[in-house]
Amino acid sequence: MPEVLLPQFEGFVPLTTPATSAHAAGTLVDKYGRHITYIRLSITDRCDFRCFYCMAEEMEFLSRDQVLSLEECLRVIRTFVGMGVTKVRITGGEPLVRRNALWLMREAGKLEGLQELVVTTNGSQLDRYAAEMVAAGVKRVNISLDTLRADRFKSVTRVGESDKVLRGIDAAIAAGFSGIKLNAVMMRGVNDDELVGLVRFAVARGIDISFIEEMPLGTVDHPRADTYYSSDEALALLKPHFELVGSDETTGGPANYWRIPGMRTKVGFISPHSHNFCDSCNRVRITCKGELYPCLGQNDALALMPVLRGHPEDDAPLRQAIVDSMGIKPKGHDFNEQMQDPKVVRFMSMTGG
Ligand code: 5AD
Ligand code: SF4
Repeated sequence: MPEVLLPQFEGFVPLTTPATSAHAAGTLVDKYGRHITYIRLSITDRCDFRCFYCMAEEMEFLSRDQVLSLEECLRVIRTFVGMGVTKVRITGGEPLVRRNALWLMREAGKLEGLQELVVTTNGSQLDRYAAEMVAAGVKRVNISLDTLRADRFKSVTRVGESDKVLRGIDAAIAAGFSGIKLNAVMMRGVNDDELVGLVRFAVARGIDISFIEEMPLGTVDHPRADTYYSSDEALALLKPHFELVGSDETTGGPANYWRIPGMRTKVGFISPHSHNFCDSCNRVRITCKGELYPCLGQNDALALMPVLRGHPEDDAPLRQAIVDSMGIKPKGHDFNEQMQDPKVVRFMSMTGG
């Protein structure tokens, strides 16, 4: 992997920054000068699917007392928002399989200062919940969809039914989210013959689509180096079929976007391998166990659960822990080196995609 060169920032905030209520909005800055304005919170490690690139066939899930309660999730969100975070993504596992997930969305949706409440889902429960999510204030959803073929969908997810997800996508469109994006993990020999079809599907519905390079997270029993498919290859494959015009819009995320003139659809590529995006990273992740991971690609984390449970009435220690986590946010990840020899032992379902 090419070395990631980072600019030297002047606004370095020393780790000793006192975390008081005076630790105001916009001041969550890591030691490389990156402002953290976005959190991704996994509210469950459970999922009704078992995508082969994401989970092992037999997964042991956490017990109830090992995961943050929804009240604790809300407290984490509220505290981050109080420190300048403006965007919160609720993920899983599959967030909509957690009982009362809608309660959390409704409460988070009321927080002043939170501009964007968004959810990542596998779509299986959207036919039931899409309308309530919109009412709760969820602005956008990302829906995972790697294939349109029912047989293939079953083999990728091991147990999932594509019909249900397709109905979920329709429900999301009908519910009126301000944005809907499909996420497709690209895999050679698995779905690389469907990339054109997936874009057509998105275009026909006026929704966005992002293609994701597979990341070496968790030990799964499939040889990732063999199925690795790069964004550049996908782009070359799509270009003869669509007029793709580069776009510099960004959602503050790692995707590069392309527009198709006259269409609403944006086509994005999330390229953790081929185009490192660490230098503009604006986010941290919190697992359902309350571990704060400053970086998806590193094992360093800070346990928020003891802080939350040890200080139920006082948010100052929680704020201090969050400030401290800025000091362990690394410069970048090294997924390419890890392709053969994964170092990050947790699954995506723990950290939240
Ligand atoms: N690499 C890339 N994407 C992954 N996802 C899950 N595991 C991986 C992985 N190892 C995707 C899901 C979902 C998104 C949240 O992350 O398919 O679309
Ligand atoms: Fe579930 Fe998403 Fe993982 Fe598939 S990728 S098993 S849908 S969490």
